[in-house]
Amino acid sequence: MDAPRTRSSSFSPIFAGLLGLIFNAAVLCSGGITSSFVRVSQKSVDMPLDADVFRVPPGYNAPQQVHITQGDHEGKAVIVSWVTVDERGSNTVLYWSEKNSTKKLKAKGMVTKYKFYNYTSGYIHHTTIKNLQHNTKYYYEVGIGHTTRTFWFVTPPEVGPDVPYTFGLIGDLGQTFDSNRTLTHYQSNPSKGQAVLYVGDLSYADDYPNHDNVRWDTWARFVERSVAYQPWIWTAGNHEIDFAPEIGETKPFKPFTHRYHVPYNASDSTAPFWYSIKRGPAYVIVLASYSAYGKYTPQNLWLQEELPKVNRSETPWLIVLMHCPWYNSYVNHYMEGETMRVVYEPWFVQYKVDLVFAGHVHAYERSERISNIAYNIVNGLCSPVSDLSAPVYITIGDGGNIEGLATNMTEPQPKYSAYREASFGHAILDIKNRTHARFGWHCNQDGNAAEADSMWFYNRHWHPVDDSSAKL
Ligand SMILES: *[C@@H]1O[C@H](CO)[C@@H](O)[C@H](O)[C@H]1NC(C)=O
Ligand SMILES: *[C@@H]1O[C@H](CO)[C@@H](O)[C@H](O)[C@H]1NC(C)=O
Ligand SMILES: *[C@@H]1O[C@H](CO)[C@@H](O)[C@H](O)[C@H]1NC(C)=O
Ligand SMILES: *[C@@H]1O[C@H](CO)[C@@H](O)[C@H](O)[C@H]1NC(C)=O
Ligand SMILES: [Fe+2]
Repeated sequence: MDAPRTRSSSFSPIFAGLLGLIFNAAVLCSGGITSSFVRVSQKSVDMPLDADVFRVPPGYNAPQQVHITQGDHEGKAVIVSWVTVDERGSNTVLYWSEKNSTKKLKAKGMVTKYKFYNYTSGYIHHTTIKNLQHNTKYYYEVGIGHTTRTFWFVTPPEVGPDVPYTFGLIGDLGQTFDSNRTLTHYQSNPSKGQAVLYVGDLSYADDYPNHDNVRWDTWARFVERSVAYQPWIWTAGNHEIDFAPEIGETKPFKPFTHRYHVPYNASDSTAPFWYSIKRGPAYVIVLASYSAYGKYTPQNLWLQEELPKVNRSETPWLIVLMHCPWYNSYVNHYMEGETMRVVYEPWFVQYKVDLVFAGHVHAYERSERISNIAYNIVNGLCSPVSDLSAPVYITIGDGGNIEGLATNMTEPQPKYSAYREASFGHAILDIKNRTHARFGWHCNQDGNAAEADSMWFYNRHWHPVDDSSAKL
């Protein structure tokens, strides 16, 4: 049941007054806001194997688990992936533009398969469609030769500084009844997300005995209703590692890398865990919390080369995705992102990253614009300080997985933390132009249009004025 919250959808005067008090208190003591909304903690349960959302599409060798992601650096290619189980079937994708539906084009791809302990996957197909026109609706058909299924997507506008674009943000989704609510809310949000920035932890199959990979299949069937129609940009989380030496599974990320292909070659990356894409007005850098990031490592060398390549006149909005947050004031996973922060934060400030999105902590939190780069062990400068060249850090690991909400917060709320609330939900980043982006966090208990936390973010390159909610 989605119990309505008192706060946003039906604003009671008493509650508004109370919120005002909290606001005042926040301003006076210059700390952030901890939502006073206390969630009754209830266990999140996975949807059963026979749930409607996991249904296998009918027909011999029907393609299932259809999903798309960006297939190149610029947004003119799409990787289409799907699974067949009866037999290998065709790798070909038939596609056509809405503008020219008589001209059907074909793209051929590859197929892979893997075993995990006593599980054997279906045939996993990956086909890249290239040279697409921008801003165009395409239909595509998979399952050629047996049962075919047709889907569609819309390509992004040409990369440029003032093209508006709307991203959805989802993390740590899993496959519970709450996950289903989150996805439904995302899909019915009137601010229509055009692509999802997914901050890691997909299926939570590893929470089952022997990492029961059947739960990778059910997850992919569950999210098909969104990801077959718009690209989800993937970040690897700890639940993608699937490292299980006790059952002989010692190759990290085996299920994830077989099932989810990303265009890492296109950004000169050497592994699918860190890469970048341009999409409309945004330059999105995906980082790997669970691959080596220290000095001399492949990821470190790549990021060092990558950041100077970002041309803010072309893509004003520099966004970084990672799984494990650097600034997190919940007790869960407190300080886990610290070692990576120490290595990369000076670069984020130097290159004026606008926004950093992370998951991992099953709750929502937004930081002020802060950095903590002055500390050098002996100088005692160990508290984050206000920094207008620094990004805002947002934790959005509240998709609704089986592990439940992180409700235990460190007290008092640190000054760097602007807003925190332990509720399931998703967010929307609506980039308007080179200077302004509207951000809203939507929790599942509210109506589709209600934002429990919202902000106007100003671009750090084009409009670097103060957009923080409180002074530190
Ligand atoms: C999941 O959500 C969809 C859309 O709201 C609904 O049709 C479906 O019945 C839900 N399934 C479960 C198992 O909750
Ligand atoms: C895999 O092994 C587990 C227990 O070891 C068993 O319950 C399960 O049915 C097996 N699955 C397959 C596909 O053989
Ligand atoms: C919350 O975290 C604190 C600090 O780690 C711990 O002492 C406390 O027991 C936790 N409370 C709950 C309810 O988990
Ligand atoms: C950018 O978008 C914001 C918000 O919609 C608007 O107020 C501002 O005027 C726009 N700037 C330009 C240059 O159009
Ligand atoms: Fe995680």
